Amino acid sequence: MRFEKLLRPGVKEIKEYVPGKSIEEIARKYGLAPDKIIKLGSNENPLGASPLAVAAIKERTGKIHLYPPSDALELRKALSGYTGYQVNNIVVSGNGMDGIIDTVMRLFMKASAEVIIPIPTFLYYEIATLANGGTPVFVNRDENYNISAKEILNKVNENTKLIFICSPNNPSGNTVQEEELRKILESAKTIVFVDEAYADFSECNLMGLVREYENLIVGRTFSKAFGLAGMRMGYAVAPEWVCREYMKVMTPFSLDALSIAGGIAALKDKEHLGKTIENVNKGRIQLSKGLTSLCKVYPSEANFIMIDVSPRKAGEVSESLLKRGIIVRDCTSFRGAGESLIRITVGTQEQNRKVIEALSSII
Ligand SMILES: Cc1ncc(COP(=O)(O)O)c(C=O)c1O
Repeated sequence: MRFEKLLRPGVKEIKEYVPGKSIEEIARKYGLAPDKIIKLGSNENPLGASPLAVAAIKERTGKIHLYPPSDALELRKALSGYTGYQVNNIVVSGNGMDGIIDTVMRLFMKASAEVIIPIPTFLYYEIATLANGGTPVFVNRDENYNISAKEILNKVNENTKLIFICSPNNPSGNTVQEEELRKILESAKTIVFVDEAYADFSECNLMGLVREYENLIVGRTFSKAFGLAGMRMGYAVAPEWVCREYMKVMTPFSLDALSIAGGIAALKDKEHLGKTIENVNKGRIQLSKGLTSLCKVYPSEANFIMIDVSPRKAGEVSESLLKRGIIVRDCTSFRGAGESLIRITVGTQEQNRKVIEALSSII
């Protein structure tokens, strides 16, 4: 193509993000009825969204011809109540936490910038780095998928701009030890982005450290515990100086009016959040107990568990599950994950039972 040479260096080499499979795709491919398919590949909320959020979204459609407030102040106030941080420490994004990551990249990246990514982990950090002209620098996690501050700090140099730490980590489900994170925050003269997409399900909450460190940004999402993945809403808690600059470079009206209304209502619905967390707590135990005799199950603090099906291949086992109408996440596309890891979203009790039953006959 004549104009391809205009592309930013590195863009052609980016491997596309591999999303979890959709119900429509699997129904078509295997000739299954869509309502019989169990979707446990994208860590969504099997209980759905808060009914209060759905009602608020419907109500707001009546005024959809009007722009939303560009600073999403009312939602940020509600988030202030939820997080305990001031509004000036909170920013939001209309494309989920992916959008937050992208805007943070716009704030800090330049050509030749390096971004440290402990792998295996969420794939979008790598894509966002390359798409913003940077170079990802990978550090392997240990056999239990823990990070080592020492190994990360060894990779820091004058070009390092950002370090991504996912806690609980996707796909392994483990959290980062606060001491290790503190070592990184104190020694690395860079921005540390802690991705807490799954922290609502965990005892480990690192957001509190934003009060202590001027180089820490913590990303969160409405896609998981709040069941609003389809709305695409993310937020971050960060030092005031970061939020001030963030508000300048984000796309105007970044969060749409329906999302703002839904988000405020979802934050108020403590009952739905409580039920969601209880379902995950019980479901993790159910899945772990049901699967331990079949394969290695990793401990998880998220709304999913990771299993190792070796000597079988994750691709082969996932495919057998797909044929039975169960969508899980084959982790082979996660850099550094090898070929035998599968991630399973915690579903309802009934869905979990079906997964255990299916895996028992496959493995
Ligand atoms: C660790 C992690 N971070 C961020 C995201 C993106 O979330 P959002 O839907 O808010 O873009 C995901 C989505 O699965 C995730 O697993």
